[in-house]
Amino acid sequence: MSEPAKIVLRARGLKKVYGSGHAAVSVLGGVDVELAAGERVAVVGASGSGKSTLLHLLGGLDEPTEGSVEVMGQDLMRVNQAARGVWRNLHIGFIYQFHHLLAEFSALENVAMPLLIRRVPRDEAEDRARTVLQEMGLGHRLTHSPGELSGGERQRAAVARALVTSPACVLADEPTGNLDRQTAEKVFHAMLEASTQRGTGFVIVTHDPQLAARADRILALEDGRLAD
Ligand SMILES: Nc1ncnc2c1ncn2[C@@H]1O[C@H](COP(=O)(O)OP(=O)(O)O)[C@@H](O)[C@H]1O
Ligand SMILES: [Mg+2]
Repeated sequence: MSEPAKIVLRARGLKKVYGSGHAAVSVLGGVDVELAAGERVAVVGASGSGKSTLLHLLGGLDEPTEGSVEVMGQDLMRVNQAARGVWRNLHIGFIYQFHHLLAEFSALENVAMPLLIRRVPRDEAEDRARTVLQEMGLGHRLTHSPGELSGGERQRAAVARALVTSPACVLADEPTGNLDRQTAEKVFHAMLEASTQRGTGFVIVTHDPQLAARADRILALEDGRLAD
């Protein structure tokens, strides 16, 4: 028998209620999800169904009303906020719909940033950033600033920045939502390729059923529940 796949992310019974009393809005009504090492899961759901809320909870950026999130075996709610931040930086990468690259820095500097924040020496940080940017097909754009990159190139740089720390898991919130079809395909392909090469797990929120179909698994968020 083969060994069971290692679980990098595990959420149990996640509930999220915003506000209280008459203004209370229940967004997640008990969500369970597991991500195995290197697995690619797409999350689909209508606008407002709670996809971003779910990713924030999975990444420890927000606290659930009920339930637990374990990242690499650590229950995020059992440690204080500072320790949670450290754990998040070690094991999780984030990609958003808008790249959030810093305008005044080059692609190389942007991607090296998460390593510099961890006090990795600049030469080593830039070497590693260069390698990931090359992997993303941006080896010829290292010194360009975000404003000098196309939309697809910016998103690929954002993917590189999420991967540079070699996280176990990347949480991507509509990473191709702002791109035309063909460019979206390319960025999505680059993420899947990186996942295969590096064994990085991905949770990717997308509106696009054709892209979702290329993930290992599709989860649909509806009425606060997640279903295969
Ligand atoms: N900080 C917040 N306070 C109150 N309501 C919120 C907050 N964030 C999101 N919501 C509400 O929760 C619901 C789900 O939002 P969201 O997770 O952003 O959905 P999606 O990403 O699927 O579009 C929406 O109705 C939204 O208005
Ligand atoms: Mg959203």
